[in-house]
Amino acid sequence: MLTKSKAKDLWELRGRLVSTGTAAYTDVVIDHAQNAKVWDVDGKEYVDFAGGIGTLNVGHCHPKVVAALREQAGKLLHTSFHVAAYPNYMEAARRLVDAVPGRGPKKTIFFNSGSEAVENAVKFARAYTKRKAVISFDNAFHGRTLLCLTLDGKYKPLRQGLGPFAGEVYHARFPYSYRPPRGVSAEDLTAYCLEELEKLFLTDVAAEDVAAIIVEPVQGEGGFVVPTKGFLSGLRQVCDRHGIVLIVDEVQTGFGRTGRFWAMEHEGVEPDLITIGKSLGAGMPISAVAGSAAILDAAATGAIGGTYGGNPMSCAAALAVFDIFKEEDLVARANSIGRKVQERFDGWRDKLKIVGDSRGLGAMRAIELVADKKTKAPLPAAKVKDIVHDCAHRGLIVIKAGVFDNVIRTLMPLTIPEEDLERGLDVLESALKGASA
Ligand SMILES: Cc1ncc(COP(=O)(O)O)c(C=O)c1O
Repeated sequence: MLTKSKAKDLWELRGRLVSTGTAAYTDVVIDHAQNAKVWDVDGKEYVDFAGGIGTLNVGHCHPKVVAALREQAGKLLHTSFHVAAYPNYMEAARRLVDAVPGRGPKKTIFFNSGSEAVENAVKFARAYTKRKAVISFDNAFHGRTLLCLTLDGKYKPLRQGLGPFAGEVYHARFPYSYRPPRGVSAEDLTAYCLEELEKLFLTDVAAEDVAAIIVEPVQGEGGFVVPTKGFLSGLRQVCDRHGIVLIVDEVQTGFGRTGRFWAMEHEGVEPDLITIGKSLGAGMPISAVAGSAAILDAAATGAIGGTYGGNPMSCAAALAVFDIFKEEDLVARANSIGRKVQERFDGWRDKLKIVGDSRGLGAMRAIELVADKKTKAPLPAAKVKDIVHDCAHRGLIVIKAGVFDNVIRTLMPLTIPEEDLERGLDVLESALKGASA
């Protein structure tokens, strides 16, 4: 007998076979994809504003990525870099090191996931400074492994019930200008957060015991929170003053998303280490730590690495990504997408009662949904979920973020054609208007 909906059947199978520990932002079951469009197993077409959570800045199945993978698959799938090196690892390392800001000798090393890059950046910082403590921020997200979830600045569902956590991790305040602490003005927020950090050195951990401060240049999972001006450069100064390694986590912001190749370039900040993931591999699992050669050479040989890190297939994809960024000028495209999305988002913030804030950098844009614009009470997560599902029903894949799960963010491929961008924005507008009525 013919089934009416393959997607429904597969969703039922997912429920029966797959751990419920993994999130389900939508109930779409995808068959294939091209650039900024995906088709589900029943043939329904969607515009994709999630881009594999920011991994697909060059679009789904970019022909150059697919060709590079096909060629590599016939040549060499794996050796483990620990066992034997291969040329495209070194070539990808060269391209990445050239792209990373900062003076002085630089190096890199590849891993599989963003979490793995973050874990290892902390290990490098500890080995280099011979100190133990690490500072991250409220509302931060650095991944789901034990150290990463300890760094995360959101408790539920990431940490609840999963302790004990890694030791020597401290949380400082991140400047979230839509929700500043009571009595602190937007103009004073940078100074306030930097002063709070200095206070932390007195109350929780001495600066000379801190190995690293890790910060997202725009908080991703935290709801696309752009720090107030001067905050990142202030952190740079704090790190310089106290001999602390500054790790900038560009896993979500990296590769042109914010309208510069790296988000930290907006403030001219040079990190000691940078963590990279997601769009480096166009969907293939590859991540990296890059930066100061002295820090990257501080760990004992054999202390860092893994079976798959910098696998030949992932390196082949990364090399294609570097070429595509240049040939298609995707950093510039991030700015033009960003301008269009911002115009629409700002308009919704001014007109629709549930849109409390419109923010972002380049094409990394978000709206924060509220139940009440005056009190800024978050729109309940269940209502946000309804909006996301309504969008999917109307043919748009979009995902939420934020500590209150009330932010809708855009991570569409930077290769998205204008008509798909417009179509996606029209769908989102209709869903928001329906929810505002
Ligand atoms: C800033 C940041 N760091 C780290 C991670 C973890 O990356 P992964 O999920 O590949 O482990 C993420 C994932 O969303 C991220 O946004």
